[in-house]
Amino acid sequence: MGAAACGSESIVRKPFGKTPEGQAVELYCLTNRNGMQASIMTYGGIVVSLTAPDRDGRYADVVLGFDRLEDYLAGHPYFGALIGRYGNRIAKGRFTLDGTPYTLAVNDGENHLHGGIRGFDKAVWQARGAIEKTGLEVALAYASADGEEGYPGNLAVKVVYTLTDSNELKIEYSATTDKPTPVNLTNHSYFNLAGQDSGDILGHELAIAADRFTPVDKGLIPSGELRPVAGTPFDFRQPTAIGARIEQADEQLQFGGGYDHNFVLNRRQEGALELAASVYEPKSGRLMEVFTTEPGIQFYSGNFLDGTNVGKGGKVYNRRNGLCLETQHFPDSPNKPAFPAVILRPGREYSTTTVYRFSAQ
Ligand code: GLA
Repeated sequence: MGAAACGSESIVRKPFGKTPEGQAVELYCLTNRNGMQASIMTYGGIVVSLTAPDRDGRYADVVLGFDRLEDYLAGHPYFGALIGRYGNRIAKGRFTLDGTPYTLAVNDGENHLHGGIRGFDKAVWQARGAIEKTGLEVALAYASADGEEGYPGNLAVKVVYTLTDSNELKIEYSATTDKPTPVNLTNHSYFNLAGQDSGDILGHELAIAADRFTPVDKGLIPSGELRPVAGTPFDFRQPTAIGARIEQADEQLQFGGGYDHNFVLNRRQEGALELAASVYEPKSGRLMEVFTTEPGIQFYSGNFLDGTNVGKGGKVYNRRNGLCLETQHFPDSPNKPAFPAVILRPGREYSTTTVYRFSAQ
């Protein structure tokens, strides 16, 4: 039985196996009034499945992943996972904060990626499901210890997923700390709006509300420049097929093996929930709109997928079979004083919101 088969109740909680350390993992299956379903597990806070209607009202699972916990435990490229303590890269796993140098776990060449060797994507989160006026909610909590993966401070993290009757998956992230620390939380879902088993995403039409992006070096660390997208393959200000320019001779596309870049979102009001990106899949008519309070979004075109992951229903995920739109602060911000600040201090609360809204045209 696939993970998306959840039953008819609004919130169903079921056992989803055990970690090698013997920790029980649960799967929360949410079904809204329209029949849209989201299933989220306590291991990694992973969105295991998410259905969305096409223009004829037919639901399909639009996120990559696996049917069984074992496949997630065996290793995977962050399918559906919560990412922390710091999403994306920190150069050489090093930064200095209030004059003190810190060294983080290095897990991506010479750099630190997505929180390190055992990031929040591999933690078992405490969970509570509830039916609220705003929708069906799964509240997840995780206590990240002082020194975990090299980060300073005990960080209390909370992530609330809400499935609304407007076919939105809302993700609210919050955190507090007892020592200053960088924090940058996101979700790493891989979307394929034709359905998770439908091949590449090159025909998806993407729009990103960004006049600028952050170019990177070979190791995908931003140079610090905020470069205009105008006249480059990074101009998604009008909806454009992802495949239209991905093979162009362009140094930035070469470094990423395709798109793997942070976009600087145009903001009307800093910290407000605004439309950041939209993706339209012409065959099914499915549309996904991404709203966020964050200043940036990482558009990753699934370049590292290489057929080694056998996903739901036995589907082999090949190169560019899914795309990620990871709302975030800019990569390597702890080493880039000109980028928006990412340091959380005791007495302050980290709080961000991202909404993925699904419809069809
Ligand atoms: C992010 C990174 C990519 C890659 C994926 C996971 O999107 O920017 O380079 O590491 O995560 O495979």
